[in-house]
Amino acid sequence: MTILGIETSCDETAAAVVDSSGALRSSVVSSQASLHARYGGVVPEVASRRHLELAVPVVEAALDDAGCTLEDLDAVAVTEGPGLIGALLVGLATAKAIAFARRLPLIPVDHLHGHVASLYLEPDPLQPPFLCLLASGGHTILAEVDDRSGYRPIGRTLDDAAGEAFDKGARLLGLGYPGGAELERLAATGDPRAVDFPVAMAGRDGFDFSFSGLKTALRLAAGRQPAEADRPDLAASYQRAIVRSLVARTAAALEATGHDTLALVGGVAANGALRQALGECCAELGVRYRAAPLALCSDNAAMIASAARFTPAVPYPEYLGRDAYASVAG
Ligand code: KG4
Ligand code: ZN
Repeated sequence: MTILGIETSCDETAAAVVDSSGALRSSVVSSQASLHARYGGVVPEVASRRHLELAVPVVEAALDDAGCTLEDLDAVAVTEGPGLIGALLVGLATAKAIAFARRLPLIPVDHLHGHVASLYLEPDPLQPPFLCLLASGGHTILAEVDDRSGYRPIGRTLDDAAGEAFDKGARLLGLGYPGGAELERLAATGDPRAVDFPVAMAGRDGFDFSFSGLKTALRLAAGRQPAEADRPDLAASYQRAIVRSLVARTAAALEATGHDTLALVGGVAANGALRQALGECCAELGVRYRAAPLALCSDNAAMIASAARFTPAVPYPEYLGRDAYASVAG
């Protein structure tokens, strides 16, 4: 089976071709980041319009790269939610149109299941059960994964997501959008122990996260305009606090659930300090550790097509009335 995946939940327009074996034949991601940078964040209406312009060329590029045409497809997978509703609708309409024209089934995929399924592609697919830390711009979730068809959240952020904390911190430090990667670059030249930021939820029971207090602490420490010389130390200390909070909660969840494998997925999984700290934590606990491949951390369609392999397909033409959903509760 050959599956075309389409992802447009935020500001990446993406398409990919994946075989039912889990072999990734192509993955094309067109980021709109530079378009939104001048506004300091994603502008939903601007994102929707850009998805409209990019959807067809990105699908064509993914088919080309995979050396196939629409005739070779057996199903079309698409992110149905959660995300920006207008952005999602562009992907959903594109997927419906392609599937309908070819009389193919449509596979509606949950975006967060997609992030988890970034671990299931060849050459080294991860076998459940495992505990998964999903840290992205919109969500921060600790989930138990029993099989490949889904995930079961046991903890989540009570306010900002980890990626949001990175982005807001970056903004306070005068960095561009999206800020996670830029903050990491600045942090590399600073002293992570220079400023003693609070580690959110330290000492509290449960597996939930909170990052909004940390952001306020950075605002206070940085003042209105942080001195140029202080910025690397602030970035490094702030990053350390986010990482420590993620690691502490994850370690507690590992101990409580007894899982012998931890996986890390989502845009923030690209962060080198987090990848390393979780690796060290797992080594100490004697737990197997797997971080998603760097190319599959940020939003992409390969993970959506991957999740589609474990998601029920909606037969032609029953999917025409399906709608996108903006939030997890959907
Ligand atoms: O998964 P993703 O692409 O989109 C969502 O589903 O939200 O995650 C995007 C988030 C952004 O907040 C971005 O700043 C963050 O991931 N991010 C990083 C890094 N690369 C991307 N955060 C920290 N360090 C990075 N290297
Ligand atoms: Zn995402």
